[in-house]
Amino acid sequence: MKLKVEVGNVAAWQGDGVVVTVFKNEPLSGAAAEVDRALGGEIQRALDSKEFSARYTLHYAFYAMGKLPAARVAVVGLGERNKFKLDRTRRAAADGVKDLRKLGAKHVALGVTTDGLDLADAAQATAEGVVMGLFRFQKYYTEAADDLWEDDFRHQIESVTILVQNAAQLETVRAAVERGRIIGEANNFARTLANEPGNQMTPMRLAEEARTMAEKNGLEFYVIDRAKAQELGMGAFLAVAQGSQNPPAMIVMRYWGAGKDKEGGLGIIGKGITFDSGGISLKPAENMEHMKGDMSGGAATIAAMQAIAQLKPKVNVTGIVAAAENMPSGSAFRPGDIVRAMNGKTIEINNTDAEGRLVLADAVSYATRDLKLNPVLDAATLTGAVVVALGLYRTGVFANDDELAETLYEIGERTGEKNWQMPMDEEYLLAMRSDWADLKNSGGRAAGAITGAWFIRNFVENGAKWAHLDIAGSSGIGEGRERGYVNKWGNGTPTRTFVEFALQLANGK
Ligand code: BES
Ligand code: MN
Ligand code: ZN
Repeated sequence: MKLKVEVGNVAAWQGDGVVVTVFKNEPLSGAAAEVDRALGGEIQRALDSKEFSARYTLHYAFYAMGKLPAARVAVVGLGERNKFKLDRTRRAAADGVKDLRKLGAKHVALGVTTDGLDLADAAQATAEGVVMGLFRFQKYYTEAADDLWEDDFRHQIESVTILVQNAAQLETVRAAVERGRIIGEANNFARTLANEPGNQMTPMRLAEEARTMAEKNGLEFYVIDRAKAQELGMGAFLAVAQGSQNPPAMIVMRYWGAGKDKEGGLGIIGKGITFDSGGISLKPAENMEHMKGDMSGGAATIAAMQAIAQLKPKVNVTGIVAAAENMPSGSAFRPGDIVRAMNGKTIEINNTDAEGRLVLADAVSYATRDLKLNPVLDAATLTGAVVVALGLYRTGVFANDDELAETLYEIGERTGEKNWQMPMDEEYLLAMRSDWADLKNSGGRAAGAITGAWFIRNFVENGAKWAHLDIAGSSGIGEGRERGYVNKWGNGTPTRTFVEFALQLANGK
């Protein structure tokens, strides 16, 4: 899909379709009013009759029947003007272009709804909404699927033109749309990686995808394979991997935006369990297929590194993905085993299904002790418990620094990837006490997301500021539903949070 920016007027635009946005409980204005005039008041009629209320998230599309230079119109509700905010433009853009695609449009246009927003922010969000909204994962549909289901799989939008009112805005909007495109495409890259099934997306394959991305974008790249991990003493990481025929990979991608002479920098770390069967503590059969998405945090890490390499902030960023497959077998680790992590701490395994924290333990040690990264963010589909606590919407944030958690909250409000800080009182750590080793890996059901976070926190060294993002619900794997630019299933969260964090760090925020 081609994304263009031009000076022009939505009502006069010639092509397959245009999108207009409408605020609730007020007269039509701007492009919507002009389009409505050309249509003989059709949009206003639908509003008056309450067939369409303009409530946020409601939208519809129809054929213009020759009354407009464009062949189709999508009308998208923004809700009340006083509730308008950045993420609504992102979603409105997505809903509009998706509606036009459903009607078979190939070349479409839309404006940037700014009402009180910064023009660049709104233009960037519009581009993100378009790029993410049009994402579909159709790789494994053949022509047989078309014959069988006669769905709209093959309808493709070929170009989207973002129209600006005057030439003075062109430069600002072009730059913002380019940022939005880079971020939207990175987000879609994460979705693609997460949606691939476990037989394809093995740890080594994930490493190859990361390598290809790194080479294309000029990032330093290396993989810590099983032998190297043994040398480094990554006993927690290796324990998880030992039951699988697919060897593990600790994937490292480095971006040197502030120069190689500066040590440390930001660390972003992803859980990369390419399939989580639970291991010997086997999961029930129902929904086990969802666990192909247990590398979603790793996918977001790789994708965020792509966007960071392309946006070139003046900050050093290292991405690490702890990739392994958790399988039951004769060589698998077992409940009762005691393993030693690379920082020397011993761990009693009381549940092999609490594997994410084990691979992250060694990744976080490596990041903070060996690479001296600070601050460090990790993203993981870590616990079912966070889904109980926050549902499918917000990411649970756990941090050793409240300011860092606050920054992540604010970033979430901007990016639309909503974050929410969870408590980390020391009392919760008690659940991780073992009779046999320094720690056990599962603290049971009570406060499961918090105790999981506490486990990981034990591996943060050198006083690094650290936040853990539990995305088991918000990543969309499992029960995720489609809403606007957010696709069903693996949705790329928290790619945009990682990217925005790096950009803000570079700007001294
Ligand atoms: N990958 C799962 C968590 C998960 C569940 C992610 C549902 C997405 C959707 C994780 O490895 C896991 O199995 N966690 C256990 C931890 C428990 C054994 C302490 C869980 O949540 O039950
Ligand atoms: Mn598990
Ligand atoms: Zn898992």
